[in-house]
Formats: sequence, structure tokens, C-alpha cells
Amino acid sequence: MDPQSQAVSKITVPLILERKLRGEKITALTAYDYPTARLVDEAGIDVLLVGDSLAQVVLGYDSTVPVTNDEMLHHLRATRRGVRRALLVADLPYGSYHLGIRETLETSLRFIKQGGAEAIKIEGGRKRSRLVRRMVDAEIPVMGHIGLTPQSIHRLGGYAVQGRTLESATELLADAQALEDAGVFALVLEAIPRELAAMITRRLRIPTIGIGAGPDCDGQVLVFHDLAGLAFQHPAKFVRPYADLRQTLHDALARFKDDVMEGRYPDDGESYHCPPALLEQFEKEVSGQPRS
Ligand code: KIV
Repeated sequence: MDPQSQAVSKITVPLILERKLRGEKITALTAYDYPTARLVDEAGIDVLLVGDSLAQVVLGYDSTVPVTNDEMLHHLRATRRGVRRALLVADLPYGSYHLGIRETLETSLRFIKQGGAEAIKIEGGRKRSRLVRRMVDAEIPVMGHIGLTPQSIHRLGGYAVQGRTLESATELLADAQALEDAGVFALVLEAIPRELAAMITRRLRIPTIGIGAGPDCDGQVLVFHDLAGLAFQHPAKFVRPYADLRQTLHDALARFKDDVMEGRYPDDGESYHCPPALLEQFEKEVSGQPRS
């Protein structure tokens, strides 16, 4: 691909905004390392999110709360090396923006300068408006995230669908509008009723990206390991497992084990060989030596 056409197809923040105007859907997936980034990018997915779901699906924590800035950055840098076309977005983990604007900007700029992120995602509604304005003022493109915000697990008491009462639906709409006013370029809607997501989507100028928010959002995002059937937990209702890599890998590992145990792996074609002349000379030399 020549550099010109590569530049044209690169997904940028203005291009994501344009998609909404054109009524074209936006595709997004998480990725956390070089191979998942290569796969997602080469599939032509528009937005690649290094989500803090890293904590659960890759690092084995039982929620997203414990993941640190350093862990996020380590995975962000590996992911960056696998991305050419997609817009690379990094999640701010729990505890990386709660102390104020200075901390928020420091974490975000670190993810952009050292990690190669092109935009930053932050969880929360109206209470993040002030932070979002300051981030946007600092030339940081921001993606919002409302509805079920997994970093609030201890306050929410579980991963329940949000916006199912009049009060909570009204609050979510107010959150969405406040974030748009504050300058987010896109908004993730997680685990809310389809009808509410549709209403928010109609009312906003910026695109909504749904996860468990029905088909009327401007785009859809899934966690890579859920899509690939690689998550070690019961999938949420909205997850469509497009592959069963856990079973595929399970079978491959069992076959490898059997082949080694039975002497079927490796075979001669999978072995290196000495040139015959060298082998002859070597055998002569070795046969003249006493065994130690
Ligand atoms: O961390 C994550 O993977 C996310 C997506 C679920 C949107 O925030």
C-alpha cells in the first residue's frame, strides 16, 4: 500500500464524527497486545480500544478496579505496535483521574506520548464534564462512557443493566448531553435498554457506540475475548460469540500433548539435519573418543 492511500484510509477523530452525519456504522473492539491489535486492525475495525477490561480478560483480576497505569501503558505500547489504520483509544483506569485535573492530564498525556494513544476514554457522566473540558482544551480527544460503568462496581453493587427507572433514564440522558457539551467526540453506552440508547443516539450530534445497548446506536463495541470465545466467565446477554477459540485451543493443546507423549511430534520433516559430509566426519571423531 503506498503511503498516500494509507493516509487516506487512516481512521481519525473527525472521520468518526463524519460517520454519524453520513449514517455509516462505526465498528470498535478491544485489543490488548500485538497479536490482537494486528487481528483487529487487519479486519478493518475502525476503533481499537485498550480497555481496562484488560484487568479481567488478560490479567485475571476479578474486576477492572485493580489495574494500574503502568499495566495499562505496557499493554498500550504493545498494541500500538500492531495498529496502522484504526483509531487507537486508551481507557483511563480506576484511580488515575479521581484526584483532579492535574492527575487526569498527566495520565492521559502519558498514554498519548509514551503509549501512542490517539484518544482517551473516561467513565462517568456529568461529574466528569469539567475534566473532559480541560482534557479537550489540552488537545486530548475524549470518548465518554456511561450506563454500566464497571469501575463503579463497588458503588453499584454488581454489573446490572442501568437506566431502567424514569429517574435513572433521565439522568443518563442528562449525562449524555453534558458530555457532548463538554466536547467528547463519541460516547460508549453500556448495558442500557435499547429504547433509551436509541433516544440518546437521536438526540446527540456525536456518535454513540453501544455495548449491550441495542442495534440503534451509531456503532458497536465488544470485548475481543468475548467475541473470540476466550473469556473464562459466563458471557453477558449481549455477547455474540463469533468464534470458540477456547475450545479450538483446548483441542490443539490436547493434540500437542498426545503427539509428544506418543512420539509423533516432532517428525523428521520438522527436524534440522546435518549435511551428510559433516555427519560422517563427526561420527568418525566421536567414535574415536572414549565415552565419559
Ligand atoms: O474496558 C473496556 O473494554 C470497555 C468496553 C467494554 C467499552 O470499556
